Amino acid sequence: MTPARSIASLICGLLMAVSSLAQESAGRKLPEPHAKAGVHCFDCHHEEKPTKKAVASDSCMNCHGDYPAMKALTKDAKPNPHDSHLGEVPCIECHRQHLPPVVKCLECHAGKFKFRIH
Ligand code: HEC
Ligand code: HEC
Ligand code: HEC
Ligand code: HEC
Repeated sequence: MTPARSIASLICGLLMAVSSLAQESAGRKLPEPHAKAGVHCFDCHHEEKPTKKAVASDSCMNCHGDYPAMKALTKDAKPNPHDSHLGEVPCIECHRQHLPPVVKCLECHAGKFKFRIH
């Protein structure tokens, strides 16, 4: 490779690295309570540079406590989303983090229950 071409390909590579970094941080918004609390990528993903969608409920439970604790926390919600005939559903099936949350219950009970969810 001539020096000019190798410099050009170096610059090109740098530009690609910068734009992929920008893409990585874009679209990684967190729900307001987590953004405010400064929860770090690693806290959930257990990877410095997250690549996977799967975040184990254990990551959430490290900070929030286990299912019995969540059940107690929302004991006044009717019905209690953490204590249902579905059992211990993985946290992220409802509390998605870079996407708006969904209440899985409403897939079947559409319009029946009202919740305030993050
Ligand atoms: C490093 C600790 C940490 C981890 C890990 C963490 N959270 Fe949080 N979370 C917090 C803090 C701090 C707050 C803000 C204070 C509060 O509301 O408890 C919060 C807030 C929340 C809220 C909003 C509570 C409200 O007021 O409505 C939900 C829901 C929640 N977290 C669910 C999760 C889920 C699900 C996971 C796993 C994907 C998770 N958290 C991982 C620390 C953590
Ligand atoms: C089936 C859906 C679903 C799953 C699964 C789920 N949640 Fe929730 N969660 C909700 C809903 C709905 C609310 C809001 C309840 C209300 O309206 O008070 C909530 C509220 C919360 C809150 C805020 C409670 C408060 O009043 O301060 C926290 C924290 C939380 N969830 C954590 C978790 C964690 C941790 C897990 C996994 C162990 C989990 N959730 C699993 C649906 C779910
Ligand atoms: C509070 C927990 C939490 C934190 C903090 C968090 N994530 Fe995630 N991340 C998730 C969950 C849950 C998913 C699965 C998709 C979803 O629910 O949004 C995910 C999915 C991803 C994915 C794979 C899916 C996709 O969208 O391509 C990447 C990459 C990712 N996160 C990067 C990051 C980076 C980078 C940070 C830090 C800036 C970060 N995450 C912080 C919970 C978290
Ligand atoms: C795959 C479908 C499905 C999902 C998802 C689902 N349910 Fe149900 N649920 C049913 C069916 C079917 C019944 C029994 C028939 C009925 O009463 O509607 C039922 C009954 C109930 C009942 C008792 C009857 C009533 O209407 O008061 C409650 C409470 C309930 N579900 C709460 C929940 C909660 C909370 C969630 C989410 C954590 C959830 N369900 C998720 C299908 C589902």
